[in-house]
Order: sequence, then structure tokens, then C-alpha cells
Amino acid sequence: RYKMKMFKRGLVLCMFALMSAAVLAQDKEYIVNGTEWLDTEGNVINAHGGGMLKVGEYYYWIGENRRDGVFVSCYRSKDLMNWEFRGHLLTRDSHAELDKANIERPKVVYNKKTGKYVMWMHYEYGGNYDKARAAVAWSDDIEKPFTYVKSFRPFDNMSRDCTLYRDSDGTAYFLSAARENYDLILYKLTDDYLDVKEQLLTLWPGGHREAPAIVKRGKYYFLMTSGCTGWAPNQGKYAYAKSLTGPWSELKNIGDNVTFDTQSTFIVPVEGKKQTSYLYIGDRWDGRRYFNSKYIFFPLSFHHDTTKELHNVEKVKIDVKAGKIN
Ligand code: GAL
Repeated sequence: RYKMKMFKRGLVLCMFALMSAAVLAQDKEYIVNGTEWLDTEGNVINAHGGGMLKVGEYYYWIGENRRDGVFVSCYRSKDLMNWEFRGHLLTRDSHAELDKANIERPKVVYNKKTGKYVMWMHYEYGGNYDKARAAVAWSDDIEKPFTYVKSFRPFDNMSRDCTLYRDSDGTAYFLSAARENYDLILYKLTDDYLDVKEQLLTLWPGGHREAPAIVKRGKYYFLMTSGCTGWAPNQGKYAYAKSLTGPWSELKNIGDNVTFDTQSTFIVPVEGKKQTSYLYIGDRWDGRRYFNSKYIFFPLSFHHDTTKELHNVEKVKIDVKAGKIN
């Protein structure tokens, strides 16, 4: 009788395990903002303050991990909804300078000339925010550990929240918050993208903008930023320009006064066969419990070439083939 009971119990457990595996294996058809997102193995996704780039048919999502001495992790997806973990790109052991570092807002671009993936990020050390440096790393393979190059202050400027942008002519730019986050400074990178070549301009001096994200649509570059209130959300703003070096428009509000409880980190053009849509990636930070922070994907729409609108939706369905986001 006891054996029978144990057998039945075993059977039930097996069925439960099989059912859970089936649920995990099933592709998500939409994602729900504000909830915990799991990768295809059922683990929580760690890619905060991240960026994306497309390589072949995959979108790669690379962002802050912060667990167990890992700084930057890599995921990939064909549909922007089901994410497969591919590896850790930068850890405490990658370089002596990283032993007690804090790495934020990593962004990666591909350099066609050198065949290397280059990562720029915000570097701090020892639990403070006083180093205010940029850091650079590279890899031949986007899924494999990156080689750390250095941390430094570009042209001696402080450098905190940042982004990286590669233009269609192959020139890459780094934009970061300087002078205690009062200024946003745009730099042109060297041809190998491993250093800054030129300090180009200061955007809205004294404007106190951070969390920059750049996207180009038609003739215009758009730059989205947040104000400076730490982990707490605030009014997102954007500006547009025909050239990255300006002149830039005035900053205009986007979303509500807390950007629908998000802070900008990246904008992905989803290029389908017939149309291109734009996906806003924001962080819904939990400053007290960092790992409780959520990722938010919102559709971003454009009107009359220069006006853009963020849509506060709970469920997001992305059709990459059609280039549609609902
Ligand atoms: C935010 C910034 C984050 C992080 C945080 C720390 O404003 O965008 O990346 O640095 O402050 O308080």
C-alpha cells in the first residue's frame, strides 16, 4: 500500500514537472510590462540599463546583471519577447580594475572595419559615484567574454549615464552626462571605437539630463533623456536634430510626469518587411531592491516627422517580420 502511495505521488510529481517544462518551453506571444520576465530556461532576466543590437536574425539584449560578481550579461531573441541567455560578457574577474567596480548602462555596437563588438559603459569603484568614468571593452564574438580595455574620463570630463550610437556611415558616438550630470557631452569615437577622438558639443548646458537614448528615423535623430532624480522616475523629454552635432530642438515632454514610471535606456528600430516600428526600452527601477527592478517595453509612435509619443500599454505584442508593435 505504502509503495503504491509513493508510486502515485512520484507519478503526480513527474506530471507536474513535465507540465511546467511544457509551459516554459512554450513561446510567449506577448509580454506583460511591470511583471518579472524570465528567460527561456525559466531564470529571471538580468539586463538592466541595457541596449540592443541586431546580428543576423537575432536581437541581442545586453545589460547590467550585478549578481554574483557578474556585471554584464547577454541574451538573444528572434522575436524580442522570448529571450535566451547566452553568457556573461563582463565579470569582476575580467580585469583588476573591476574587482570592486560598479558597471552601469553598458551599450554595444559592431565595428565593421575591425570586426569587433565594442562596449562602452559607466564605471564606478568601491560603492561610490565619485569616479564618474567611462569604460571600454571589446570582443570578437558578441556572446563571449569581452576584453576590458580601460576606464577614463573623456577629455577629463566626468562621465556617468551614457549611450553609444553608430551612424550609418560607420562613425560612432558616445554621449554621457558630465559636470555632476549638469551637461550632456557628445564625443566622436576613434575609427576602432576604442577611444574618444573629438569632443563635439555640450547639449543643453546646465540642463541636468541623463539616461540618454538615440534613434534615427527618416531625416531626424531623436534623443530621449530623463531628469536627474536617482532611481526615482521623472518627466522624460526628447529633442530632434538633422545632425547629431545639432542644432537640436528644444526639449519636449514625453509620457506623463514620471514617464509612466520608467527611465529611458534604449530605443530599438524594429524593421519589418513593410514598415518600421520603434520600441522604447525603459527601466522601472526599484532603488531599494535593485533586483526587483522591471523592464518596460513601450511602443513609440511618431507624428509629422518630429513629434513622438510613448504609449503606456500593459501587454506588448511584437511582430518583427511585419515591423509592428501593439
Ligand atoms: C540614475 C541612473 C542610473 C543609476 C542611478 C543611481 O539616475 O540613470 O543608471 O546611476 O541613478 O542612483
